[in-house]
Amino acid sequence: MIIAVCGKGGVGKTTISAVAAQALHDRGNGKVLVVDADPAGGLSTALGLTPKKTLNDVRKEIIEEIKVGGRDEKDLSISLDYLLAEALTEHDNLGFLAIGRPEDVGCYCRVNVILRDAIEGLAERFDSTIIDAEAGIEQINRKVMSPVDYILLVADTSAKALNVAETIRDVAHQMIGGEGAGLVINRAREQAEVEPIKNETRLEVLGWVPEDDTVRRFDGRGESFLQLPECPARGAITGALKKAGLEI
Ligand SMILES: Nc1ncnc2c1ncn2[C@@H]1O[C@H](COP(=O)(O)OP(=O)(O)OP(=O)(O)O)[C@@H](O)[C@H]1O
Ligand SMILES: [Mg+2]
Repeated sequence: MIIAVCGKGGVGKTTISAVAAQALHDRGNGKVLVVDADPAGGLSTALGLTPKKTLNDVRKEIIEEIKVGGRDEKDLSISLDYLLAEALTEHDNLGFLAIGRPEDVGCYCRVNVILRDAIEGLAERFDSTIIDAEAGIEQINRKVMSPVDYILLVADTSAKALNVAETIRDVAHQMIGGEGAGLVINRAREQAEVEPIKNETRLEVLGWVPEDDTVRRFDGRGESFLQLPECPARGAITGALKKAGLEI
């Protein structure tokens, strides 16, 4: 199962992706691919895993190979496999891959295409895949997320974040097709704050995650979420992931 965690900027996508990675890591059986698809990064810090190479580094090496010349398409796809293997950081049953940030100005399209192909190819070798997507709709719009089975939408309790979640759902429906989607409401302070959202939104609500001091502390100190102890946010996120169909 391939799950993409999507939503407006700053709503908690990386936190939820990291807790999902932890839950699947702790479960112990089955291999998990975790992908930081956000060029700004963040999941690497949240998990305490530093990739030797990013997908953007791989892209640069491929461009170099093309410049040097003498490579046909078959050669290049073999070297792409090889370079992707180098970009994959392994930790116990986790594989971690980061898109990285092109330092040349302009378009992220090319590295996004490599990302999509990498997700498609590598995910087959893992039992589940969690993708921390870039904020907003761009990667959905550009079909980078077309291999995805389920879109886990994250919003805080603001109308703006909920609108973005609904827009992502609509764009995904048009661009990708029949995959499932569900909403996690993050950083709520009490049930009463969640009820009106449940009544108003068109999205299926998987659950809500409380504002949590343990999460704040881990984020503040830059500690790995793979070590996050039992806490209300962790319990709520695990519950929502189960509802989304992840076996944890
Ligand atoms: N349930 C929570 N309780 C307390 N703090 C939280 C919770 N969820 C997220 N945060 C905090 O909110 C901030 C933003 O979270 P996070 O980085 O996960 O968001 P994001 O959606 O990935 O942001 P971006 O769009 O910039 O990538 C972080 O400082 C994080 O620690
Ligand atoms: Mg993030």
